[in-house]
Amino acid sequence: MCGIVAYIGPREAYPVILKGLKRLEYRGYDSAGVALLDRELKVYRKQGRVAGLEESVIGKDLHAHAGIGHTRWATHGEPSDRNAHPHLSASGRLAMIHNGIIENYAQLKNELVKKGYPFKSDTDTEVLLNFIEYIQDNNHCSLEEALRIALKRVVGAYVIVLLEKDHPDTLIAARKGSPLVIGIGKGEHFLASDASPIIEYTKEVVYVNDYELAIIKCDELILKNLGNEKITPYIQKLDLELTAIEKGGYDHFMLKEIFEQPDTVFDCLRGRLDVGKGTITMAGVQNHLDKLSQAKRIIIVACGTSWHAGLIAEYVLEECCRIPVEVEYASEFRYRNPVIHPGDVIIAISQSGETADTIVAIENAKEQGAFIFGVVNVVGSSISRISHAGAYTHAGPEIGVASTKAFTAQLVVLLLIALKIAFEKRSIPEDRYMKLLAELQSIPEKIKELLRSADHIRNLAEKYKDARDALYLGRGYSFPVALEGALKLKEISYIHAEGYPAAEMKHGPIALVDENLPVLFVATRDAYHEKIVSNIQEIKARKGKVVAVISEGDEIITGLADDIMMVPVTDEMTAPLLSVIPLQLFACYLGMAKGLDVDKPRNLAKSVTVE
Ligand code: G6P
Repeated sequence: MCGIVAYIGPREAYPVILKGLKRLEYRGYDSAGVALLDRELKVYRKQGRVAGLEESVIGKDLHAHAGIGHTRWATHGEPSDRNAHPHLSASGRLAMIHNGIIENYAQLKNELVKKGYPFKSDTDTEVLLNFIEYIQDNNHCSLEEALRIALKRVVGAYVIVLLEKDHPDTLIAARKGSPLVIGIGKGEHFLASDASPIIEYTKEVVYVNDYELAIIKCDELILKNLGNEKITPYIQKLDLELTAIEKGGYDHFMLKEIFEQPDTVFDCLRGRLDVGKGTITMAGVQNHLDKLSQAKRIIIVACGTSWHAGLIAEYVLEECCRIPVEVEYASEFRYRNPVIHPGDVIIAISQSGETADTIVAIENAKEQGAFIFGVVNVVGSSISRISHAGAYTHAGPEIGVASTKAFTAQLVVLLLIALKIAFEKRSIPEDRYMKLLAELQSIPEKIKELLRSADHIRNLAEKYKDARDALYLGRGYSFPVALEGALKLKEISYIHAEGYPAAEMKHGPIALVDENLPVLFVATRDAYHEKIVSNIQEIKARKGKVVAVISEGDEIITGLADDIMMVPVTDEMTAPLLSVIPLQLFACYLGMAKGLDVDKPRNLAKSVTVE
């Protein structure tokens, strides 16, 4: 939620910041703005996309070697020019960008209003900024000192970066709960919410931790804690190429990322799976195998698409490892005083590694003695650092707001973890274990094969694009896939869609069925095949339109359904890795057919860093 970029160094700051904002636009696109500090502090802000800002500043004075920029996902105050960041303090001396939420902003605002502070926006950010300015004026201290004092009063989450008019040689930043990466160049520094705006300039980065302050000049980076003690920056090397964050010939990131899945699944298996030897190599699991295999209970916490991956993992872990598993929405788990015993294992699943609810959920569980295992895509992200152990999903940067390749990579990692634990526990027959390893190995090729029918799916999307609602049904391993298919359609095409276990359909959703309702069945071959065939018949009997994702060679459903999407035959446990892909494509093509921006669906943000 919200992307921030800042630059200080010999280059012109504006082009660096603008390019960075475009890369971070997936985090929010309600408004965009920059503040540039030369002799003057120049602020330009515009409601809407970064491109709108770019257009609005043509002909303006953009010269500066220090600047901050922001792309907003609105929390406090509607999307508008005046609520756009950067904000200026009451005196106009300070400019600030902010990602996060200041929870006690109302109380701080009251105090400031009583002291006569004027407010020009509805944002919590302006409150914090004026609070900092008030402390600086009152204490006649440096901005750094004022910030330290102010942040001790702040409840909430933030990354903030400040410019001070009389100090064009310094940027000041602070972080708690939202991400901040600092890129270290030669005589220059780059700040951003993630590494994508930074990699074309430098691969040396520092991930700022919670409760740290950064004082940044062209050739100096000082990190301090709120107690004013210096901290040695831990410089890491980015393992990320520029091509990974560009569209590479596709019109949309979402489409590119769907088509990347043969490679991302392959990358996720690489170095881990050895079918010949029958081994799975995962250091994060191996080093804690006792803890994981002896767990009395596993609790999976996640949000959104990652939560759907968790549901599939529940089925796999219970079947293979015979360990009871609960899957929790992080936002519910963190607030409902859950019973956690020392020895419980929490698996946190997150593409970004920055989802606020997931972070707090695992922090709470950690305090109560649980062992935290992170399944995360973004290397160096908060969840990867909070976890005791973990496994990266290696899907590469996912830019499309709707998650696709990260989901299949999560499934692969979770399957590998389950199989490794199951092998250790001897809770899975050896021949089944070996068969599943071989199946996993074959998945990248099978994805390649199914992607060859993309044009057929594009035609189906065209056919169903005027639907008002859609129902997605599946059983067993296919039920979470139905949920994920429905989520994709909602996110991308704004068609109301619901996912249900196919048998539950009789307890309500069947009332919706008529000749206008497309019902998408996830009906690949599994133990419930006959049952799902009956469910399809029940929909057909009520004139519903059936679109079915089926395994190759399924004559029965081919004969029954109005339309089919075919995937190669695989084990029922690995089937979600294939069956979800036609549904991703269907949603993406349908959004495109409706002329929507599939990479930036309305109201959504890729990384939900506020609760
Ligand atoms: C947002 C994104 C989803 C994502 C969810 C959880 O809603 O739009 O695509 O599944 O957050 O994010 P995470 O990064 O924790 O997987």
